[in-house]
Amino acid sequence: MSAYKTFAIVGFGTTGTLFAKHFAQNKENGLKWKVLSRSVTKPELQEAASQGAELAAVDYDSQTSLINALQGVDVVLSALRDGGLEEVQLNLARAAKAAGVKLFVPSEYGRNTLGITEPYLISKANTHALLKALNLPYALFFTGLWPSMVLEPAYGSVTGINFDTGKFSLFGDGNEPLSWTAPEDFVPFVYHLLTTLQPSQLENAVFQIEGDRKSFKQIITLWEKKTGKKADIHERSEEEIQAYIDAQETELLRFIPRQWQHGGMRVGNESNKLWPEWNPESSRWEGLFA
Ligand SMILES: NC(=O)c1ccc[n+]([C@@H]2O[C@H](COP(=O)([O-])OP(=O)(O)OC[C@H]3O[C@@H](n4cnc5c(N)ncnc54)[C@H](OP(=O)(O)O)[C@@H]3O)[C@@H](O)[C@H]2O)c1
Repeated sequence: MSAYKTFAIVGFGTTGTLFAKHFAQNKENGLKWKVLSRSVTKPELQEAASQGAELAAVDYDSQTSLINALQGVDVVLSALRDGGLEEVQLNLARAAKAAGVKLFVPSEYGRNTLGITEPYLISKANTHALLKALNLPYALFFTGLWPSMVLEPAYGSVTGINFDTGKFSLFGDGNEPLSWTAPEDFVPFVYHLLTTLQPSQLENAVFQIEGDRKSFKQIITLWEKKTGKKADIHERSEEEIQAYIDAQETELLRFIPRQWQHGGMRVGNESNKLWPEWNPESSRWEGLFA
């Protein structure tokens, strides 16, 4: 039985939507979930409401607005991203403390960000620091890369991974193993841990969850086997990698090359044993080209 009864999902994008669906699919657990969003008029949110979510429109610049929305909430599940990870998530943490929230789950779901100083993710480390300063218990979930980050042509093509054309420009030799976990797989895992572990096991804990571990070379070999096609692989030299980084306009694209090259997106998988029945089928590359 869950020690926590009321959850607030904050931000209704990819991860927030999946959390809301998962709560709706597990209504028999008797938990309450609400979704905080800048606007509650979007049709997807109305659908979430029809499945049982309470909706709250919030103004992240107003502590009163956030504190009101978080009254009676036990766990904040932040699913914010990018600009929403900066002052927005910090304001959310301050309001959570003021509202008496018992556990704050910041938006992570990628590489291990403890002590990270990279500009793209420093806001995540800033959130950890604030949670500690507020003495607000937190749980962190690190899960590695989402397969969609290379499978979706819009993302894949800008980094040089193109399964449509079979052309692959790698950062280095592509042999460094990386961790892969899809949101469809980590959302049920996070829900499972939050609703089955004791507060003492969750408070200020770090969980490392991994759906699959594969290097780019291993993924491309699998793609060749599945499709019967021959990959056209280019291993970018050090100079080419630096030139790629220098040419990028977003922090995300400046961040990716060295992470992929040196395995920065590899997380531990010691938390996998906390749910042996977990079947991360959306994360296993063997099934992703089927
Ligand atoms: N490891 C990986 O490969 C990987 C890939 C993608 C994401 N991630 C991580 O996963 C987490 C969730 O990302 P996601 O892709 O699910 O996010 P997303 O789809 O972009 O959704 C984020 C939501 O946050 C809210 N939001 C965004 N900007 C905001 C702002 N400036 N102010 C206030 N609210 C804002 C919006 O919700 P409302 O419109 O409802 O307010 C938005 O839908 C992030 O920590 C991200 O870094 C990791």
